[in-house]
Amino acid sequence: MEPRDTLGRPLKALRISVTDRCNFRCTYCMPKDVFGPDYPFLAREALLSFEEITRLARIFIRLGVTKIRLTGGEPLMRRELPVLVRMLSALPGLEDLALTSNGVLLPDLARPLKDAGLNRITVSLDTLRPDRFRAISDTDLPLDRVLAGVAAARAAGFGPVKLNCVLKRGVNDDEILDLATFAREEGHTLRFIEFMDVGTTNGWRMEEVVPASRVRALIHAHWPLEPVEAEGDAVARTWRYGDGKGEVGLIASVTQPFCRGCDRARLSAEGRLYTCLFAGDGLDLKGFLRNGHDDPSLTALLGFHWKRRSDHYSEIRHAATPGLPKVEMSRMGG
Ligand code: GTP
Ligand code: 5AD
Ligand code: SF4
Ligand code: SF4
Repeated sequence: MEPRDTLGRPLKALRISVTDRCNFRCTYCMPKDVFGPDYPFLAREALLSFEEITRLARIFIRLGVTKIRLTGGEPLMRRELPVLVRMLSALPGLEDLALTSNGVLLPDLARPLKDAGLNRITVSLDTLRPDRFRAISDTDLPLDRVLAGVAAARAAGFGPVKLNCVLKRGVNDDEILDLATFAREEGHTLRFIEFMDVGTTNGWRMEEVVPASRVRALIHAHWPLEPVEAEGDAVARTWRYGDGKGEVGLIASVTQPFCRGCDRARLSAEGRLYTCLFAGDGLDLKGFLRNGHDDPSLTALLGFHWKRRSDHYSEIRHAATPGLPKVEMSRMGG
């Protein structure tokens, strides 16, 4: 029943994007000149309903999925998200239900999400400087709201909270130690992410990538690090601070790709299935759902689709691949 793809990889994790909208316009994800007032975001009817998402999640669990992560856009912009969390967290066989958010709406939602059964929260935090935050996120919402969101997640019992920092050379790489200090003092787990060539609008250039090895060396010179044995096929390589002040993660998707263990599928808000973050096209699952296919035929279809999978984009990235047609991250869900 549990399919393996052409490279022998099982299907273990499902990332579900619940909306393509966001209240930020991060330059590396939804630059304002592309995602402006006239951008054709998905209409409400185009989105998968909570019932449709839950039905598909049940089928994915039957195929081997044990971890689900809710993403966007900004997932908390989807109305009534705790209702979906409650529906998903009740599914037998699901071991981990997590959320990646920009944090701004967490002061109000952290507690309801916890009560609905969410297990973990990751918040994006690229800088601790208000002026820089405004430039990177291109929003009038204040950095303090993000920090309040992180604190609210912590207070609601999501701890340690993971913090995601996308590094870009010359933009925020002078804050590595400041961010690490903040996370160490507050008891959060910071992860530094290499800037990736996702989508086609973020103007990616290799020169802007800050290699994880450099980040590790810098932190290690300050606070000696010890490796933490990886749990399964984790995206992040984790390091423990020798002085006992928690852990730090490095996501080296560009310089040290982790496709070999990639057990992740992505379901977009409009119900397309992507088997790679860098895919140019996906399977129209919503079409199959709305055309009256029953669960056994959807299960067979998904199993067949996974078995044909051969994606390994990050291992074959070269000068020409960043220019290939790719689906935007805000639509696919990171
Ligand atoms: P956990 O390890 O379960 O805590 O979550 P995660 O690190 O998989 O999820 P998160 O949404 O925090 O993603 C962290 C970063 O890793 C983001 O920049 C993602 O785009 C990136 N990422 C996640 N999965 C993949 C993947 O399959 N391939 C690549 N290239 N990047 C990924
Ligand atoms: N490269 C790397 N990470 C990215 N994210 C968004 N765009 C990019 C990119 N181009 C991160 C967000 C969020 C996570 C889901 O993906 O900061 O934390
Ligand atoms: Fe929104 Fe996250 Fe993309 Fe920033 S990175 S625009 S917060 S979805
Ligand atoms: Fe998986 Fe594609 Fe990322 Fe490789 S590049 S780890 S195949 S999502």
